[in-house]
Amino acid sequence: MSSPAAATFVEYADSARPAVDRALEDYTAAAAGFPDGLRDAIRHSLIAPGKRLRPLMVLMAAEACGSPPEAAMPAACAVEMIHTYSLIHDDLPAMDDDDMRRGRPSCHAKFGEATAILAGDALLAQAFEVLGRDIQPADAAARCCAELGRAAGRAALVGGQHDDLHAEGSDGDVEQLEAIHARKTGALFRVSLRMGGIVAQAEAAQIAALDRYGQKLGLAFQVIDDLLDLHGDEQTLGKRTNKDSERGKLTYPALLGVEPSRRKAGELIAEAIDSVRIFESDASRLEALAVFVLERNR
Ligand code: IPE
Ligand code: IPE
Ligand code: MG
Ligand code: MG
Ligand code: MG
Repeated sequence: MSSPAAATFVEYADSARPAVDRALEDYTAAAAGFPDGLRDAIRHSLIAPGKRLRPLMVLMAAEACGSPPEAAMPAACAVEMIHTYSLIHDDLPAMDDDDMRRGRPSCHAKFGEATAILAGDALLAQAFEVLGRDIQPADAAARCCAELGRAAGRAALVGGQHDDLHAEGSDGDVEQLEAIHARKTGALFRVSLRMGGIVAQAEAAQIAALDRYGQKLGLAFQVIDDLLDLHGDEQTLGKRTNKDSERGKLTYPALLGVEPSRRKAGELIAEAIDSVRIFESDASRLEALAVFVLERNR
């Protein structure tokens, strides 16, 4: 299944992920006033075998714009904190009600709902603490805070999650579905890439190219996520399958069928790759990631 390009990305990801994991470990070290029970819940979900695609996108974008990846590590960790908080809350009984995540019991399944809600809250808050304190220079930190806040917020991730839940059992159209996917998943992809560019002090045209790439890739990623819910393997994915149809979710395969959804994902990936041509050979990792997203089975 895996093409040379996807294999190239997997190799890069395996080499870059340990530094991200170490930084996340450091950010969740024991601290005065940090209850052990809360820390255990946070680390159960955060220091877990996630793919780390969003932090890697921050690092890859920074590098494509000529910055050393280390400078972008706080932004990489911040976006993973937001993503993990969104997963913890997404799994709650009031939302998708999932008992498995990242190959483990979901946070609330292991620690109870109240602690899971608080673990998510703490991660959401810490993301902005990390950006505001650890990104240099201060104007890049401020810009990252504003952009991540927007991407995580009312008209993006949270707005998309709201509409995803309210569309359950309804027969929406493709326009509605695309608006949900673009916000609940695409927004975090876009801001990951944009923050890499911001930390690297990239030109506006470079950030615009990264943004367009993130928009296409994020939408394709969620189309594939919908397909994996239908045909993926629970063990490999580390989460339950066949949940979307059970809950009556508005998804690409439910609306368009499997083959048209695959075609749509393929078109989006081609557009994503096309978006980063201005980086020339520095875009090779971003191209490899795009192919990986299309071919992934986890
Ligand atoms: C899962 O994201 C949530 C979606 C946006 C579909 P990932 O598939 O990136 O989850 P992890 O981080 O690898 O666990
Ligand atoms: C989740 O979409 C997107 C966010 C968590 C913001 P899904 O609900 O499809 O993600 P999975 O399938 O549970 O990972
Ligand atoms: Mg959901
Ligand atoms: Mg879910
Ligand atoms: Mg899903």
